[in-house]
Amino acid sequence: MGRVGKTVRLAGWVAVRRDHGKLIFIDLRDMSGIVQVVFSPDHAELMETASRLRPEWVIAVEGVVKERPRGMVNAKEPAGAVEIEAMALRVLNESETPPFELMTDGKEVGEEHRLEFRYLDLRRGRMRANLAMRHRFIKEVRDRLDAQGFTEVETPILSKSTPEGARDYIVPARLYPGQFYALPQSPQQYKQLLMVAGMERYFQIARCFRDEDTRGDRQPEFTQLDIEMSFVEREDVMGLVEDTYTSIISKLYPEKHFTASPWPRLDYAEAIKKYGSDKPDLRENKNDPDELAFAWVVDFPLFEDEKTGGHFAPSHHMFTKPLDEDLPKLESDPALVRGAQYDLVLNGFEIGGGSIRIHDPRLQEKIFDLIGFDEKRKAYFDHMLRAFRYGVPPHGGIALGLDRLLMILQGESTIREVIAFPKTGEGRDLMMGAPADVLPLQLEELHLRGTLKDRKRVKKT
Ligand code: AMO
Repeated sequence: MGRVGKTVRLAGWVAVRRDHGKLIFIDLRDMSGIVQVVFSPDHAELMETASRLRPEWVIAVEGVVKERPRGMVNAKEPAGAVEIEAMALRVLNESETPPFELMTDGKEVGEEHRLEFRYLDLRRGRMRANLAMRHRFIKEVRDRLDAQGFTEVETPILSKSTPEGARDYIVPARLYPGQFYALPQSPQQYKQLLMVAGMERYFQIARCFRDEDTRGDRQPEFTQLDIEMSFVEREDVMGLVEDTYTSIISKLYPEKHFTASPWPRLDYAEAIKKYGSDKPDLRENKNDPDELAFAWVVDFPLFEDEKTGGHFAPSHHMFTKPLDEDLPKLESDPALVRGAQYDLVLNGFEIGGGSIRIHDPRLQEKIFDLIGFDEKRKAYFDHMLRAFRYGVPPHGGIALGLDRLLMILQGESTIREVIAFPKTGEGRDLMMGAPADVLPLQLEELHLRGTLKDRKRVKKT
């Protein structure tokens, strides 16, 4: 409003053009929202160009800011109380007719169609808001952790496949025929090694890769707020996350309310007994889009059910420390040992998980034995066991799924809505057309020529 009477220059996209006899109205859209531009016969020389404008043309306008009549104020837009009386107009770029409407929330358009033209889909207000809030949330995380002495460290994307958790994405190593890098399922081992390195307080906005079936809350690549701390107990890690998330959400989403604060703690056995789930939805009113029911679930069994072959599988991961009071049972009754683990749940989704880690190499070897690792499998973790011989601080951490959290905060029903360029349910990037063939020469360089021949054979049969 402070700009009323001033001359401004704007550039953006034509959202809508309305011809009202002598006047032409344009809704001009840029990153900050929409403003109405009016072309009047006072500037007759612009009318011809203005009448040719079509949706999604890119234009530059110079004009005077005018207050809109009271009944015409658009309260939903930041610039909804004013309009621009155009004095100059330049077409910067024309556009073909978009394949779908961009002024709606897009829910009426098939998702595959939206993903194929994602650069257009992202022009809609809902998607711009999702990306903007994601940015603001992550910025708050960085500022707050920085203020508390955390250092953000980037860890490698090209790493090593180790037998744990989900299936790896692997990358052929050109210089080492027959050998492969793996994309990290999480920075778990690196962050523990950073504690060995004396980093004490680490975090990372970390991209993780898991070759699993995709779902509404699961993508092949996703983002974690990954944290690791030295000289801490469970309470320290949980307290840090609870304080950080509570203050960021209160600032960025003042309309939201917490079902309970401090967040309730359930032990695993209690959660299963009471709610039949280790990620119960504790909202009081499931129709209230602004209710946030955070809860911690603790004291998980260290091992999952005995697998065939008489061995145990880690329920979180193999670096989780057993609870001190359960250590004596490790020999006699491993199935009853609980881990120093904690999961964070929100409105029925698992939005984080972590643990205090084993820092004693003998205990780590014992766990490897219990999960049935032979010498060959143990050898995959030699680097960890070796590092752990050199003065390892007690440490623990957590990884928080940022896509899932933002999905819930933005009131969306899949994490694809809060990711700029997500994959489909079938793991495809429809805009880029990935996965895709590569040139035969590339396969040759990567020593994968056999694969090409095999593929041809498969196609023929
Ligand atoms: P975990 O495997 O439990 O722990 O992952 C932590 C959190 O990441 C989110 N998440 C996902 N989000 C979207 N798509 C996926 N495919 C996906 N998989 C997981 C979830 C989950 O709670 N390194 C350990 C953490 C630790 O011990 O510090 C780890 O990765 O919200």
